[in-house]
Amino acid sequence: MSEMALTPISSPITGEMQVPGDKSISHRSIILGALANGTTTITQFLTSEDTRRTIEAFRQMGTLIEENETSLIIHGKGTSSLLEPEEPIYFGNSGTTARLMLGVLAGLPFFTSAYGDPHLTRRPMDRVVKPLSTMGGHFDGRNNGNYLPLAIRGGNLQGIHYRLPVKSAQVKSAVLLGGLFATGTTEVIEETPSRNHTENMLRAFGADITANGHSIQVSSDKSLTAADVAVPGDISSAAFFMVAAAIVPGSELTLRRVGLNHSRTGIMDVLSSMGTEIHITNKQTTGGEPLGDITIRQRPLNGTVIEGDMIPRLIDEIPVLALAATQADGETKIRDAEELRLKETDRIKATADELNRIGASIRPTDDGMVINGTSVLTGGRTITYNDHRMAMMLAIASLIAEETLVIDDISPIAISYPDFFQHLRRITHS
Ligand code: S3P
Repeated sequence: MSEMALTPISSPITGEMQVPGDKSISHRSIILGALANGTTTITQFLTSEDTRRTIEAFRQMGTLIEENETSLIIHGKGTSSLLEPEEPIYFGNSGTTARLMLGVLAGLPFFTSAYGDPHLTRRPMDRVVKPLSTMGGHFDGRNNGNYLPLAIRGGNLQGIHYRLPVKSAQVKSAVLLGGLFATGTTEVIEETPSRNHTENMLRAFGADITANGHSIQVSSDKSLTAADVAVPGDISSAAFFMVAAAIVPGSELTLRRVGLNHSRTGIMDVLSSMGTEIHITNKQTTGGEPLGDITIRQRPLNGTVIEGDMIPRLIDEIPVLALAATQADGETKIRDAEELRLKETDRIKATADELNRIGASIRPTDDGMVINGTSVLTGGRTITYNDHRMAMMLAIASLIAEETLVIDDISPIAISYPDFFQHLRRITHS
């Protein structure tokens, strides 16, 4: 446990900064680089606890991966070069490593066992185990294979047509990755669009993939060919600074080279509908992923409703958006976000409990919360529940608190943003 006491700031947030590489895209670039033939160089790669788990998983299967400061070089030799690991694979705290790797391991013709930290061990895996078992993968574990640790015997998969029962890009991706090893076509149908980085990157690596409306189809007809990846900045990391600039009076902040994939930009739409001034410049596209510079200017905020198809477009940003809503005039309602209860911690309960503890007025509901603004945040002791996004949200809350805010444990921040406090100090000039 690593406690931190944060004092409120007295000046606006100004300047510009670049957030680290996108976590979702970084994970996928390791996976596809290792499954492909040839050398994949990944620049602006996110080096963090979560992505380390995906790197180590492939190293255990024999993939040569070189690491530099911010780039990664993967010497892929195709799926047939991967070897049965001698030791269990450790997924740590990383839900993305777990769900996506289970898709890969179901396809590989050998035995693997995998486990996670105590938090990941409590998160459901049947959402991927079920469809991958229907495809022919063999899984065993507690509660019919719903929880880690899991034993996996892969190989001989067959394509399926799968309608996603949950709004989850991880589940979609696990089935599509399994489809790379399956005979016939694998189709995933999703009612509510979720992040499509797997689809974009599969295309860039030459896979046989088509996406039409709500249906995505993949086959094993074409093997993957290495492709260099330039990872855009992570909008889910940028979100903390976007909200900081939106709630600290007089702020103006520019975030450079942030990923602007439509499936991830819900936070920009919501903040602007609440009144924040947002401008995008220097738009470009790399590897099918749009990116650009985002400038945020603080303006008075009003309450809003966040629901339906918007939810997957900002699922990881809801704790920090709830913080923004505490500073908005009137009521903000968040609905259809029941998935939040299954994240690194129950983020509906954790967000409501911790912000209420420091003076907010939030009523948790089954699938979201109702936030009444405007509240004065007092400061005091807060708990992160080993959740990196809770810890960063509380650090941003401290900027506008009346007194010192103590966070019980900032160590989980290394999961997605090891340089978070350095960056925060730079833009708060402290
Ligand atoms: C992710 C998908 C989302 C998100 C997670 C990363 C991904 O999870 O919350 O942080 O990289 O595919 P779900 O697919 O469970 O919604």
